[in-house]
Amino acid sequence: MTTPTSGARQRVLSGMQPSGDSLHLGNYLGALVHWVRMQDEYEAIYFIPDLHAITVPQEPGELAERTRRTAAQYIAGGVDVDKCTLFVQSHVPEHAQLGWVLNCITGFGEASRMTQFKDKSLKHGADSASVGLFTYPILQAADILLYQPEGVPVGEDQRQHVELSRDLAQRFNSRFGEAFVVPKPFIQKESAKIYDLQNPTAKMSKSAGSPAGLINLMDNPKVTAKRIKSAVTDTETEIRFDKEAKPGISNLLTIYSMLTGKSIDEIVGDFHGKMYGHLKTELADVVVAHLDPIRTRAEELLGDPAELDLLLARGAEKARSIASATLTEVYSKVGFLPPLGGAR
Ligand code: TYM
Repeated sequence: MTTPTSGARQRVLSGMQPSGDSLHLGNYLGALVHWVRMQDEYEAIYFIPDLHAITVPQEPGELAERTRRTAAQYIAGGVDVDKCTLFVQSHVPEHAQLGWVLNCITGFGEASRMTQFKDKSLKHGADSASVGLFTYPILQAADILLYQPEGVPVGEDQRQHVELSRDLAQRFNSRFGEAFVVPKPFIQKESAKIYDLQNPTAKMSKSAGSPAGLINLMDNPKVTAKRIKSAVTDTETEIRFDKEAKPGISNLLTIYSMLTGKSIDEIVGDFHGKMYGHLKTELADVVVAHLDPIRTRAEELLGDPAELDLLLARGAEKARSIASATLTEVYSKVGFLPPLGGAR
């Protein structure tokens, strides 16, 4: 293995798709806040998986813009390019190159068992789903394994994909010799799943049927407050945490707790005897106060796209130095004839 984690710090890696104009609160609480905390403790690598975004149709003009918007939201949310490596996936060709090798050691049945493909292909119509959507988790395994991270900080919905990357790392290592660290999913229980405001048993997701259930980082505060106040709850009146019986209220309490640092019990105590409307109004204030500075900062960053592109170019250079070492070793272990001069 040529690129184990250097020094004392363990390495983590993660990414979020640039598939919308804004990240949502599930992305923020399920992943981004943990990334920000981790960049002090770990050697952190964060990227924008634009190759993954085209597994479903994208408007080319929009994709580039959404990639920049995603980068701006990472940074505005606290990702610090001086502490971590931040880059765009398509700027590092080794992702696609390793992806191909991993495609060739993944079973068709194994890929068919990935639940996200089943869900997404059903949504878009199974016949029109692309082969790229089918092999999506294998490219994700390449994203991860290229950088030899110990941990992959994600929400619960990505657990199966990280498990696949572990299986593929172990398979490659035993078939061809040690080339990969076997990564672990780092999933923070409390925020692993934030639910849709209108359909609180489904995860908050960009591909939800209606935008009314989403809290977006880049939305106008009035829209955000309105969506929280219209969140679906239940016919009782008592404010308490019970995921089964009261998924809507429980989701609001989770969000409140994550953003204020207060425990659920403390919040339930504070709202004892109050109405759902009180909780919603206060939560709307908490969310807006938290997200508004992020949106403002992201907009500022987007005002200077050349500077943003420069930061991303520097990040890609750092990322490539790790990725190319892994790929060279993998190619050699697989038995590819080295090109003259040694450069791949
Ligand atoms: P994506 O873009 O769907 O989501 C980005 C991150 O947000 C988390 N997340 C949630 N967490 C809690 N509640 C929710 N409702 C919620 N919705 C999303 C996701 O778990 C994820 O951590 N396949 C990945 C992108 C990817 C990737 C990678 C991630 C590509 N290559 C390599 C890690 C490592 C995805 O589509 O995430």
